[in-house]
Amino acid sequence: MEVIIQPSASAAADLVAWIIAGQLRAHPRSVLGLATGSTMGGVYSRLVDMHVEEGLDFSGCRTFNLDEYVGLPGEHPNSYRHYMNQHLFNKVNIDLRNTHLPNGMAKDLAAECEKYERLIEQAGGIDLQLLGIGRSGHIGFNEPLSSFNSRTRVESLVPATIEQNLQFFEGIEQMPRQAITMGVGTILECRRCVLLATGRDKAEMVARAVEGPLTSMVPASALQMHSASTVVLDAAAGSQLKGAQHYHWQFENDAKWKAFRGAASVDARG
Ligand code: F6R
Repeated sequence: MEVIIQPSASAAADLVAWIIAGQLRAHPRSVLGLATGSTMGGVYSRLVDMHVEEGLDFSGCRTFNLDEYVGLPGEHPNSYRHYMNQHLFNKVNIDLRNTHLPNGMAKDLAAECEKYERLIEQAGGIDLQLLGIGRSGHIGFNEPLSSFNSRTRVESLVPATIEQNLQFFEGIEQMPRQAITMGVGTILECRRCVLLATGRDKAEMVARAVEGPLTSMVPASALQMHSASTVVLDAAAGSQLKGAQHYHWQFENDAKWKAFRGAASVDARG
């Protein structure tokens, strides 16, 4: 696992967008795993800018989102399909037929989950999976006690998640209590994982996920077992990490980040 602490939420989003753009440029037919939520807004708006200003090409890629609410159709403003269309898909040159989210309206939800796993497999697996972390420690909607071997399935949301996401709904009655989510095991099979977290309210869970013991009580801690996982944070989300100095040293000295460090310092100078 590598941990990168950027000075601000906007610099952290820049870095994540830079990583995704690099993946797309190197492998235009990449299979991307995507996430939704407040944290990802900055990443998608930068990717849209890169598409408009630099011609970043999405025409060859395929995408699989982590999750979708059970009971919300794609047209519902709070569905994750709607979020993705609004934030990214409708603003870049991606073929909507190559974008996948679980169908939370499926009559047979178990069959839908199996189908989603099969689709990922048929696409050749996910090259790069974008992740956020919830206040419960979830990745996707894998709530505490999710097995590290879990596959795509229906998960019940815990109170911390309901509280976190209630702001997007008109009231508690409108908020779904279940979602279809890729499993922790599904996520660990992706070839590369990039987790983005910003803000002080994520600091404790980030510290437990990165520096705490591996435990299904903090599903994000499973990323410690992944051989290519990068955790990108702003200073607030990284504020409870004991090893911050070590992470900074690694980032400053790793040749792979040199081009980004150069671009970021040019931006800062204006
Ligand atoms: C959503 C997802 C979730 C979010 C997490 C953080 O697709 O996978 O794990 O990434 O709940 O959400 P925000 O960014 O809204 O704090």
